Amino acid sequence: MADIRLLNVTKSYGKHRVVEGFTIEIRDGECFTFLGPSGCGKTVVLRMIAGFEQPDEGEIFIGERLVSAPARRHYIPPEERRIGVVFQDYAVWPHKTVLENVIYPLTIQKVAKEEASERALKTIAMVNLGGLEHRMPFQLSGGQQQRVALARALVSRPDVMLLDEPLSNLDANLREEMRFEIKELQKNTGVTILYVTHDQEVALAISDRVAVMGTDGRICQIGTPDEIYEQPIDPFVFRFMGVSNFLPLEEREGRLFVRESAAALDHPIPAGREEAVRKGRLVAGCRPFDIKLMPPGRGTQGVVQRSSYLGPIIDYAVTVGGTELRVQQSIAEALAGGGPLPEGSTVGLHFPDLKWFEQEGELTQAGGAA
Ligand SMILES: Nc1ncnc2c1ncn2[C@@H]1O[C@H](COP(=O)(O)OP(=O)(O)OP(=O)(O)O)[C@@H](O)[C@H]1O
Ligand SMILES: [Mg+2]
Repeated sequence: MADIRLLNVTKSYGKHRVVEGFTIEIRDGECFTFLGPSGCGKTVVLRMIAGFEQPDEGEIFIGERLVSAPARRHYIPPEERRIGVVFQDYAVWPHKTVLENVIYPLTIQKVAKEEASERALKTIAMVNLGGLEHRMPFQLSGGQQQRVALARALVSRPDVMLLDEPLSNLDANLREEMRFEIKELQKNTGVTILYVTHDQEVALAISDRVAVMGTDGRICQIGTPDEIYEQPIDPFVFRFMGVSNFLPLEEREGRLFVRESAAALDHPIPAGREEAVRKGRLVAGCRPFDIKLMPPGRGTQGVVQRSSYLGPIIDYAVTVGGTELRVQQSIAEALAGGGPLPEGSTVGLHFPDLKWFEQEGELTQAGGAA
């Protein structure tokens, strides 16, 4: 197996610089995810690692092997990089059976027939397609076709698997199921996985580490799913990881208020954020479930603008000063408090889990993941 290293990689198309000085190290045997908005350069980076694209500058290593170094005119083609690749659209050959699809890379590598057949059958079983070896792709579901693509990428025993949104064409249930399967494959084979997605839920579920990329192709933060979710480095990362609220704050006589409002926050000025407070740029972030609803008169005062029933949860829009917040409460909690709050009612808000940021640009409220 192998690690993957990119050192100062730059790639442009015409005048558009997709990535610049892109440096990252993916460890041997880990499941690493590039998470970022559409168009930020995830696929371009993955294609450079695979060898389908050449960087303009920089170096790429897979294990100890230098595979791309334009300055030295050094380039190892994809078929010699010991990688397996799976893309979003099920790229299986429609006129070949499952077995023929999976065995194909071994035939190309001139692996002896008997061994090839044995390895292909074993890999097919590994992706839970045992018994379907002789089906044609049109007789398979989308999820099953994507498993064929996974098996075909795995059968050559690659050091590295590059997966580009392999689940995004699948329905929600299947997507969830296959997440676990990919994780299981990684455990069973020890293969290094680089996974590319704009779906933060998938990234959190399968990754050992995640790199969040910004729209400009830069890496904003690298960390474990827990670090990225619990300690986002800036509002962009926070917003990207799920539905988010931002409360712009200011200080008056030693207390924090929602900016330009009478709504006081029952929280002291956070340590280390005095500078942001002084500049009038302190912002608190919180998730809909991290806001507790209380009777009016306690906590920060807000007004319920909208209340939506979403099965197990109630989703509210609550204004505090000029700021609208998304607040969520479990049905059990709502019932314990006397039922869902009617629209127009005044409510108290408590914020037990705030993330503190210094605002740089404009804030967009209540965004979901992009
Ligand atoms: N062959 C190409 N020629 C010109 N521009 C390209 C080419 N390939 C990609 N780009 C541009 O590079 C940028 C990054 O594209 P990329 O496909 O890596 O985005 P992405 O992060 O994978 O997005 P998505 O989540 O939508 O798949 C985009 O602005 C895209 O238009
Ligand atoms: Mg892409």
